[in-house]
Amino acid sequence: MKGLILCGGKGTRLRPITDSIPKPLIPIANRPLIFYTIDLLIKSGIKEIGIIVNEKNKELFEKSLNNKFDANFHYIIQKESKGIAHALLQAEEFLDKEKFIMILGDNSFQVDLEKTIDDFITSKSNCKLLLKQVENPERFGVAYIGDDKIINVEEKPKTSFSDLAITGIYGFDHNIFNACREIKPSKRGEYEITDAIRWMIQKGYYVKYEILNGYWKDVGRHQDMVEENIYRLSSMDEDIKGHVENSSISGRVILDESAVIYNSVVRGPIVVGANTTIKNSYIGPYTSIGKRVNIDKANIEASIILDSCYISSVETPIDSSIIGEGSIVSKENGLKKVNRLVTGKNSRIYLK
Ligand code: DAU
Repeated sequence: MKGLILCGGKGTRLRPITDSIPKPLIPIANRPLIFYTIDLLIKSGIKEIGIIVNEKNKELFEKSLNNKFDANFHYIIQKESKGIAHALLQAEEFLDKEKFIMILGDNSFQVDLEKTIDDFITSKSNCKLLLKQVENPERFGVAYIGDDKIINVEEKPKTSFSDLAITGIYGFDHNIFNACREIKPSKRGEYEITDAIRWMIQKGYYVKYEILNGYWKDVGRHQDMVEENIYRLSSMDEDIKGHVENSSISGRVILDESAVIYNSVVRGPIVVGANTTIKNSYIGPYTSIGKRVNIDKANIEASIILDSCYISSVETPIDSSIIGEGSIVSKENGLKKVNRLVTGKNSRIYLK
């Protein structure tokens, strides 16, 4: 069986982070988000993996993925982000006539995918959806169940009469390609996969479902990134290879061999990347710190600090924050008490 991961979107809701990194490559616990999905596919026996990318990002994906997994990647270009159904059509030749699994590149799961796949292959169904009970179904595609079957699906309804969201794991057979060709763009101008699935239901194809009991997150907003980081750090094993001096360390800490911690209090779970230095600081639980970061006299908790940042003499705690690559956060040493900001397009700064 082949797998397809969709990474062709624009990631507009995660700007400015996605101005320089495509959403699926954003580091979560210091690993690109898509790595966890690839792990999941490989674990379930799928090693031929198509990745939908846009022209601009293809090389970035190749660089990040190649030679890191026991799998073959096939990069398939979607020239314009015209919707998930449009993205899927670009992979028709690669996927051929057999049943396959499609996963959205910005979704994260804890699921026994092998079991789900076995059931999909052995059943007579043409499509299988993984549904999850949620409190805010209007944010997602939703499914309506009757007689233990999916009787309808709807993309982001204004008011949903079902609390079952359609998650980003789909099993399809080749009939989905006709469905994708038949549908028209939605109000938001996209060829919606949900509309293609509804087309299948209306034409009498068998669309099966499974309720997902494990973890699921659509990493669409900044808060989702912070929460996803917490989730991934929760299950990592301690691995202190770097140098620790005159510091108090507790909880699970993953410290790269070239990273150093001096004179600080560190409470895991945290992960610290290569060539990073932490001095005179407090680093609290659920923090991921990238490579070549310099932190001195700071107090940071539940945050994601990307590569090459400099954070120094910041009195107020930094919490639930995402600090983009190469950022400087430091105390202004002028006479007047002011905030001095040099920000890029779409920056967000919340001051106390
Ligand atoms: O997360 C689950 C939800 O994902 C489902 O409940 C919805 O039914 C489904 O439509 C989708 O909704 P989103 O609005 O969250 O989709 P988004 O635009 O964020 O795209 C999801 C992934 O698909 C993302 O990794 C980028 C990729 N994509 C998206 C578009 C629009 C493409 O590869 N090409 C595209 O043209």
